[in-house]
Amino acid sequence: MKYRLLGKTQYQVSTVSFGAWAIGGTWGTISDDESLAALHRAVDLGVNFIDTADVYGDGRSERLIARLRQERKEPLIVATKAGRRLNPHTAEGYNRTNLTAFVERSLKNLAVDSLDLVQLHCPPIDVYYRPEVFGVLDDLKTQGKIRHYGVSVERVEEALKAIEFPGVASVQIIYNIFRQRPAGLFFREAQAKNVGILARLPLSSGLLTGKMSLDSKFEADDHRSFNRNGEAFDKGETFSGIDFETALKAVEQLRPLVPNGMTMAQFALKWILTRREVTCVIPGAKRPAQVDDNCAAADQLELPESTLEAIQALYATRIKPLVHDLW
Ligand SMILES: NC(=O)c1ccc[n+]([C@@H]2O[C@H](COP(=O)([O-])OP(=O)(O)OC[C@H]3O[C@@H](n4cnc5c(N)ncnc54)[C@H](OP(=O)(O)O)[C@@H]3O)[C@@H](O)[C@H]2O)c1
Repeated sequence: MKYRLLGKTQYQVSTVSFGAWAIGGTWGTISDDESLAALHRAVDLGVNFIDTADVYGDGRSERLIARLRQERKEPLIVATKAGRRLNPHTAEGYNRTNLTAFVERSLKNLAVDSLDLVQLHCPPIDVYYRPEVFGVLDDLKTQGKIRHYGVSVERVEEALKAIEFPGVASVQIIYNIFRQRPAGLFFREAQAKNVGILARLPLSSGLLTGKMSLDSKFEADDHRSFNRNGEAFDKGETFSGIDFETALKAVEQLRPLVPNGMTMAQFALKWILTRREVTCVIPGAKRPAQVDDNCAAADQLELPESTLEAIQALYATRIKPLVHDLW
C-alpha cells in the first residue's frame, strides 16, 4: 500500500481506500459477515481510510465500521457525510440544528467522540452561497465534535465554489476513465489550495472491472437496476451517468490496453492514481476478494505513456461528447 497526505488534514491515507456505500445497502443482497470480512481484509492490506455516510443503510454502514474499529487496533480514519437525511433535501435544511443532529447521530453510530472528517453530502448548490453553513462546521470543529470537514459534490462548479471556503479540507467527486472533467481546472485549483481529492465511483459502479455484459442482471434493490435514468438520485451516481450499452462497448475497447499481470479493476484504479492531485480512490467492495484485487492497484507499475494516450483518445471520441459538460 502507498499513502498520500489528505489536503489540509494531517492524515496520511492509503491511496486505495474503501468506499462503504455498498455494505450499507442499495446494491443488492449483502451480508454483514461478508462486509465485515471485506473491511478486515482492507485493514490487513494497509487500508486506513474508509468513506461512509449516515444514510448508507440508514446507519448500517457506519455501525459496521464501528464494529471493525472495536475489532482492530490499527488507527483508522473514517470520513462520513451529512445532509441526505433531509427530506425535502433543501439548502435551508443545512442549518445549525440539523447539522448538529446529524453529527451527533454519526458519533453514536460510529461510537466515537469526534468524527475524523465530515463531508456535506452533495448538497444543493445554494449551500455554497450560504457562508453560515461553513460557520456551523467551523463551530463543530471548535467544539471537538468533528476534526475536519469537506464536501462531496456532483459537479465541477460545486467543487470550485466549495473550495473558496478555507475550512474545506477535501472534495469528493466522481473521477474515473469515464468521467474526466474534474482533471481540468478543478484539479489545478484544489492543488493550489491544498485541498484533498477523494475519487469516487473509481470503477464506474463496477463497469470498469470488465466483468459486465448485456446479460448482467441486477437485483431490484440495486441502484444499477432502479437508478439508470436518475429515478431516485443523480443519474451520474450510477455507471457515471453513461448509457450501459455505450459504456460496455467502451470497456471492450479498453480491454486490450490492460497490461499483462494487471486486472482491469487495477488498471482503472491505477489510471486515477496517475494524477498526483488525487489523494485516494475509494472503490466500493462487498467481498474480501474484491478488496484484494483493488488494493493490489496501489503497488502496480505506472501505466505506459502510450496507454494513457490511448485512454485519452477513447475518452475524447466515445465518452466525452456524452458526459463531459453535464457534471
Ligand atoms: N454522493 C456521494 O457522496 C457518493 C455517491 C456514490 C459513491 N460514494 C462513495 O464512493 C464509493 C465508491 O463508489 P461506488 O461504490 O458507487 O462505485 P465503484 O467503487 O465504482 O463500484 C463499486 C462496486 O463495484 C463492484 N466491485 C468492486 N471491486 C470489484 C472488483 N475488484 N471486481 C469486481 N467487482 C468489483 C462491487 O459491486 P458488485 O460486486 O455488486 O458488482 C462494488 O460495490 C462508495 O462506496 C461511497 O463510499 C459517494
